[in-house]
Amino acid sequence: MPQRVGIIGYPIGHSLSPVLQQVAFDHYCIDATYQAWRVTPEDVPDFVGGLKEAGTLGCNVTVPHKEAVIPFLDVVDAWAARAGAVNTIVNDNGRLEGYNTDGIGFLRALREGVGGSAKDKHVLVLGAGGAAKGVCLALAGESVRSISIANRTLERAEALAKLLEGHGAHANPVSLEAVASKDASQQADIIINCTTLGMAHGPGEKDSPLTYDQLPIGGLVYDLVYNPARTPLLREAERAGVATIGGLPMLVYQGAASFELWTGLEAPVSLMAEAASAALQ
Ligand SMILES: NC(=O)c1ccc[n+]([C@@H]2O[C@H](COP(=O)([O-])OP(=O)(O)OC[C@H]3O[C@@H](n4cnc5c(N)ncnc54)[C@H](OP(=O)(O)O)[C@@H]3O)[C@@H](O)[C@H]2O)c1
Repeated sequence: MPQRVGIIGYPIGHSLSPVLQQVAFDHYCIDATYQAWRVTPEDVPDFVGGLKEAGTLGCNVTVPHKEAVIPFLDVVDAWAARAGAVNTIVNDNGRLEGYNTDGIGFLRALREGVGGSAKDKHVLVLGAGGAAKGVCLALAGESVRSISIANRTLERAEALAKLLEGHGAHANPVSLEAVASKDASQQADIIINCTTLGMAHGPGEKDSPLTYDQLPIGGLVYDLVYNPARTPLLREAERAGVATIGGLPMLVYQGAASFELWTGLEAPVSLMAEAASAALQ
């Protein structure tokens, strides 16, 4: 029997998930077509309820439904509960389970990208939206030395810092402007861009949140933006001779974790990365 699996979002056309997941299903000759499902906010309850049907593995969940799906699930795991956001739903014989693999993907890309770890590091997170929240919660469990959150809208950085306090982690909220105009960014060991600056087709697609002379010598710049592969910030980092990680590995690793939840099989991450990379060319 063919298996039903896919991603829900609104809009959904931009998603790379169909490309990187399909190659994994095909690798194992699993009779499944991974689809992109455009689901309006009003249709979320019915759509999620329909995932309980036999022959449905589950789905990925993207913007703007990551929080909205939670009331319709039977259980959510610890990562998803902490983030208040689900990116993977598994149909276990009519019982819907919610997971969040973003933090797992983020940390795996950090560890495997440059063999690095955030332990004992001063980390500067740029942005305070959904991605920054997932990143900060993941960092909160990593014994970092300090976390600073720099955002254009200071109030959102303050709100995120407050949320982290609730999880036993301290973060220092600052405005993005202040970080860019002082030397604060140079005191960080790791800078993580969780803003949309540099993202293709976005309003700031040509912009970098920091310039090369604001980057820490001997540090690491990790840009969550994966399209384009070489973002304006990564170009600045290369110019400064700073180590870099782009957003694609995180995307692949979070997708790999979803695939493993649906199938119990080890995800073919190299194939998935190749497929995603080719789709971005
Ligand atoms: N690699 C991956 O697997 C992965 C996973 C998740 C997300 N991402 C990427 O991460 C990025 C952020 O996603 P998100 O879901 O967190 O988005 P979001 O919730 O909309 O947050 C956007 C963030 O960018 C900031 N921002 C937007 N325009 C700006 C500008 N012109 N100048 C300065 N800051 C600006 C916002 O600041 P304000 O609060 O001031 O508006 C906010 O902090 C996206 O590019 C997304 O593709 C990648």
